[in-house]
Amino acid sequence: MGKRILVTGGTGLLGRRVVERLERDGHDVRGLSRRPQPSPGWVVADLKTGQGVREAAAGMDVIVHCATAFGRGAEAAIAGRVVEAAGQAGAHLAYVSIVGVDRVPLPYYQGKLAAERLIERSGRPHTILRATQFHDLLRVLFAGAARSPVMPVPALRFQPVDAGDVADRLADLAVGEPLGRAPDFAGPQVRDARDLAGAFLRATGRRRAVVPVRVPGRTFRGYRDGGHLAPDRADGTVTFEDYLAAHPDPWATSYRGKRS
Ligand SMILES: NC(=O)c1ccc[n+]([C@@H]2O[C@H](COP(=O)([O-])OP(=O)(O)OC[C@H]3O[C@@H](n4cnc5c(N)ncnc54)[C@H](OP(=O)(O)O)[C@@H]3O)[C@@H](O)[C@H]2O)c1
Repeated sequence: MGKRILVTGGTGLLGRRVVERLERDGHDVRGLSRRPQPSPGWVVADLKTGQGVREAAAGMDVIVHCATAFGRGAEAAIAGRVVEAAGQAGAHLAYVSIVGVDRVPLPYYQGKLAAERLIERSGRPHTILRATQFHDLLRVLFAGAARSPVMPVPALRFQPVDAGDVADRLADLAVGEPLGRAPDFAGPQVRDARDLAGAFLRATGRRRAVVPVRVPGRTFRGYRDGGHLAPDRADGTVTFEDYLAAHPDPWATSYRGKRS
């Protein structure tokens, strides 16, 4: 039987795919956004101020939390709103996090880790799925770097994953039994950024000198040690080349696909 499901961040790169997948599976899906959306089935709410959140969550069986916020304490603060609303509704909360949030000391990752802990300690039914970097993130990095003839890339490996693959896994988990921490979900290949940049240049028909750059500090070291990788969870099906071949505009410099 179809479930009633609220998707926060339903307008986002991942959330949009989660909404589509759950609707295709016959669930009664409601997207949450700060702005009114042109199609029916959306609610307006703001997870920072809390306005409209409780009403949006009322009567839901599941809340899939894909919205995200930057800035000190913001990710944990919005997760707190969602935990509270899920508790009031008695809903299963599914949250998407990032592989290595406990190993790479990037401030954004620390916020995600704090959000995870808040959800875990709530004692409410929940599932947390950590995924590796989306292909889109690397594509945008390369589209920006390739503006100059010498293309700097971090001297690191990545295991990029397709947001559609992550959405499918998250949607399956959301309608299943709460698992607590689910197995991590990672892209099909671990590759040097230099090699991935080569794929970007081949796909866009450009030639550039690709220069790997090392950065001092603990965060870079965390990445260099592979804290953001999950080679034993390489369940994604879409390679970076597959993703680029399907992308309508690989040169788009905005994350969600527009040119700036
Ligand atoms: N990017 C990656 O490589 C990666 C990898 C693994 C996991 N993740 C995680 O995946 C999740 C989704 O990422 P994404 O890239 O899909 O995000 P995104 O495209 O940047 O979308 C962010 C969403 O958050 C919503 N939002 C922001 N502030 C809000 C607020 N105050 N109230 C309500 N909604 C708010 C936005 O909705 P409106 O603007 O419509 O209000 C938007 O839909 C994040 O938790 C991220 O950490 C990302």
